[in-house]
Amino acid sequence: MNLQFPNGFSWGAATSGPQSEGRFNKKHANVFDHWFEVEPESFHNQVGPDVASNFYNSYKEDIKLMKEVGLNSVRTSIQWTRLIDDFETATLNQDGVDFYNNVIDELLANDIKPFINLHHFDLPVELYDKYGGWESKHVVDLFVKFAEQCFKLFGDRVSEWFTHNEPMVVVDGQYLYQFHYPKVVDGKKAVQVAFNLQLASSKAVAKFKEVNTNPDGRIGIILNLTPSYPASDDPADQKAANFANLWFNQIFLDPSILGEYPAELVEILENDGVLFEATKEELAIIKENTIDILGVNFYHPHRVKQPDVSPDSLRFNWMPVKYFDNYDMPGRRMNIDRGWEIYPKALYDIAINVKENYGNIAWFVAENGMGVSNEELFQDETGVVQDDYRINFIKEHLTELHKGIEEGSNCIGYHLWTPIDCWSWSNAYKNRYGFIANNIHTQVKTIKKSGHWFKDVADNNTLEI
Ligand code: GAL
Repeated sequence: MNLQFPNGFSWGAATSGPQSEGRFNKKHANVFDHWFEVEPESFHNQVGPDVASNFYNSYKEDIKLMKEVGLNSVRTSIQWTRLIDDFETATLNQDGVDFYNNVIDELLANDIKPFINLHHFDLPVELYDKYGGWESKHVVDLFVKFAEQCFKLFGDRVSEWFTHNEPMVVVDGQYLYQFHYPKVVDGKKAVQVAFNLQLASSKAVAKFKEVNTNPDGRIGIILNLTPSYPASDDPADQKAANFANLWFNQIFLDPSILGEYPAELVEILENDGVLFEATKEELAIIKENTIDILGVNFYHPHRVKQPDVSPDSLRFNWMPVKYFDNYDMPGRRMNIDRGWEIYPKALYDIAINVKENYGNIAWFVAENGMGVSNEELFQDETGVVQDDYRINFIKEHLTELHKGIEEGSNCIGYHLWTPIDCWSWSNAYKNRYGFIANNIHTQVKTIKKSGHWFKDVADNNTLEI
């Protein structure tokens, strides 16, 4: 059977500046660059972001490979720490300007539409040291200055813009669960940072509307949506799942698309004494500057049950897990190596949720994919990774997505994480996700079986199942 996708569907893949470029010629360090400098043992095999996949030096050859796997669109991000010399005044670094101009031009010369994101976990460490990073509203305004430079420099050729990638991961990683530097554990700060990140996004949207001159230009945000499914019909499990959805998904989804926070979430945070500080003017900015397009990163669902202990239990700190426990559903289908459940139907559920509850806004799958460790074991005698498991994973997800589109969901594309195996934060190169393998010792890049397969899908705009 053949599944036909809408005309002009975006077939692509996503990466980011800090995960692909390497630190070459970069004047400033972001929080991950810095964390690796001070604590290399926190990174898998002590591999840091210094070389990443060498995109700074090999972007021409890399983009040629991306073309060979049929991509008609690619997302990457502009590193604040590469483009800007002085964060306060947002003066430009000429080498950074030249690099991103070259990348964008090279993508366009290959008929690949650039999707450009501005913040992908890569806060300049100086702004953390000086102001507390996203805890500070001054940093919010500095981000908007950086965004303005990007819109003005590249907006003539870039139409698809995004403010943040997975802001919730910054909240979780930096302020709750200690997987991003500087590993603070502080629930109240976490909530304020979530608000400040939203404010930064909405203010950047406002700036975009002010300076954009590209008639096709639009702006959005990329959110990791992890639908939270209750363990059972028990109302207590349902309540737990409802909170998890508010906390993980709606906290950015609602203000970004609807212009307002969910009243229920605000009430809970207020009762718990951790509600963010926001002025009337800031809430008005959020209200007026909603997005044009939504990017959704989906890897795995989230299953939730009622908490084991009473919400009134004593805790030294406010934590969202006060309201739910994670639930390991017996019999779930897993990607065991990565520790993630495989549940393609969630993509259909997301499609319908966006259609029914978010005005059927234009959206796309901005990341989906399968992380596999020791993937070299699947290389054949010619060196090609025979990743049939990835082909099946993509097929199953596209099938569910297609069902959502058939039912009217306004999905405009599917981007795999990632075009070329790249550096993945503290996991470094442990798990590989790409259409193209990367030997990190030699930087030799080889298209996997899935890459050849995807070209057919993209060229025909059709999935054969
Ligand atoms: C996402 C993130 C990416 C990449 C991916 C795979 O959460 O946006 O940067 O690391 O996970 O690990």
